[in-house]
Amino acid sequence: MADPVLSIRNLSVDIPTRRGTVKPVEDVSYDIHPGEILGVVGESGAGKSMAGNAVIGLLNRPAHIAQGEIWLNGQRIDQLKGDAMRRLRGKEIGMIFQDPLTSLNPLLRIGDQLTETMLTHLRISPAEAERRAVAALDEVGIPGAAERLNSYPHEFSGGMRQRVVIALALCAEPSLVIADEPTTALDVSVQAQIIALLKRLCRERGTAVMLITHDMGVIAEAADRVAVMYAGRLAELGPVRTVLTHPSHPYTDGLMASTPLASRGQRRLRQIPGAMPRLDAIPEGCAFHPRCPFAADRCRAAPAPTVTDGQAACWFPIVQEKVS
Ligand SMILES: Nc1ncnc2c1ncn2[C@@H]1O[C@H](COP(=O)(O)OP(=O)(O)O)[C@@H](O)[C@H]1O
Ligand SMILES: [Mg+2]
Repeated sequence: MADPVLSIRNLSVDIPTRRGTVKPVEDVSYDIHPGEILGVVGESGAGKSMAGNAVIGLLNRPAHIAQGEIWLNGQRIDQLKGDAMRRLRGKEIGMIFQDPLTSLNPLLRIGDQLTETMLTHLRISPAEAERRAVAALDEVGIPGAAERLNSYPHEFSGGMRQRVVIALALCAEPSLVIADEPTTALDVSVQAQIIALLKRLCRERGTAVMLITHDMGVIAEAADRVAVMYAGRLAELGPVRTVLTHPSHPYTDGLMASTPLASRGQRRLRQIPGAMPRLDAIPEGCAFHPRCPFAADRCRAAPAPTVTDGQAACWFPIVQEKVS
């Protein structure tokens, strides 16, 4: 297999508070390969965005990387500062957030935003940048691309605006895209189109994608592999088909049972009892044990084992028939 584009090793994020340090991300490791979409899924507050923001150097103080390493195309990036990190964000890492307006300058025509980004990061002429801007808008499905270069962000609908953001995120030819809840703010009717677009364009370019979402439907639709997060930790990591249809971690199993996924032929939805703990009240042992139907003494006593690819952070993983 090709070398990973992104490699996160034993990443922990700390937030010092008056009542002690909390860990929104703890000992998380995963790789993303060229052209691969890794879905990062979990309930709100699980630490998904913190992990993504750590990669792009956008943790808000006092949150900071306390431990671990982040490698991008063989270069260690977790200690990069200021300009070096900003260059990386524009050139090597494209970003798509929930609200398209966070990525777009409201005062600039979208053509100028696209050409400026390309001229900053690519060795091309202004004329070539303009030609590529039209092609980029055309490719993301903006009708009348050449004329729309002159439009401002507010002149687009939410779905069209997120298409513009995708064009902007990809225009400097990044090797990694981090998409944090890219469809959560959009009408349900356009969500699937945006996910399909992102998936197609990144596949064609061989771009690695970290797709952060709380929505199992999005994962099922787009991801090649899944990282399931719970209370800042990785609960399970593996190929999407295996994890969704034959989960090993009781939390993943519970998530699946509470999600209406047509592809799963689901009968009745079942909610996981209780709620994810606050960061300052994470229980001893396995963080999931108070909600787990299979919890035993060992789960209350010892932290769950660390996840490696294809495994669950669980003392008693659900043993399923092998997927053929
Ligand atoms: N400044 C802060 N102080 C304490 N906790 C924080 C702070 N900022 C974020 N958190 C907590 O960090 C956790 C992880 O948040 P986040 O990564 O945004 O979750 P997700 O993206 O999975 O919904 C949440 O429980 C949130 O409450
Ligand atoms: Mg988030």
